[in-house]
Amino acid sequence: MIKRLLILGAIAFSSLSLMAENSDIALPAADMTAGTEMMEAFAQRKSIRKFADRELSLQDMGNLLWAAMGQNRQDGRLTAPSCRNFQEIRLFVFDRKGVSEYLPATHSLRHVVDGDYRNLVAAGQDFVNDAPFSLVMIADMTKFGNVDERAIMMASVDAGIVSENISLACAGLGLATVPRATMKSAEIISLLGLADNHIAIMNNPVGFEQKD
Ligand SMILES: Cc1cc2nc3c(=O)[nH]c(=O)nc-3n(C[C@H](O)[C@H](O)[C@H](O)COP(=O)(O)O)c2cc1C
Repeated sequence: MIKRLLILGAIAFSSLSLMAENSDIALPAADMTAGTEMMEAFAQRKSIRKFADRELSLQDMGNLLWAAMGQNRQDGRLTAPSCRNFQEIRLFVFDRKGVSEYLPATHSLRHVVDGDYRNLVAAGQDFVNDAPFSLVMIADMTKFGNVDERAIMMASVDAGIVSENISLACAGLGLATVPRATMKSAEIISLLGLADNHIAIMNNPVGFEQKD
């Protein structure tokens, strides 16, 4: 009897810790006083491809993801404009533990899958694996209805805007990044269980610069 109770207790405990690991992570609200002045961020913006072995704090993550495409108005609009406000760009975080999705409406991270899949983002550019995480911009083309050449162009522009927000936020916050189009797009879409009307467009590995 006691043995059965112990086993049941162990099962309950392990599923609880699994739940804790897989549940949403609430991010700290963006600190509006963080970082440099805007013009200084433009002056500092550059592609950096050497990353130190150092993680970001949760506050840094909150600041960065909010700057990338967080909600900045009561009506649900974002720091990143989008074609007809479709908000079709979905932002995924690939880190050493797994993949999660940034949800602007709740300023939180939703767990998607366990495992280190940064290699799919690197796609042969090994420096990407040194960055603690990569942010991947994936367009949900269902928002456009008709997926034609113009819709793909608009989605690419929108992804580029999010990517540039990330680059400027990194420059202002003392972080390192590089905008990239290279990645194993089809494998990423399949890993995340997304329908084939999603397109992986851009990514930004992020971390701290490794200075020589
Ligand atoms: C659309 C786009 C795609 C890019 N793709 C890659 C890439 O796959 N790999 C990479 O190392 N850099 C990539 N870059 C970074 C450019 O090489 C870099 O921005 C350019 O050399 C200018 O350097 P700077 O960013 O320091 O001004 C890309 C940049 C853009 C805008």
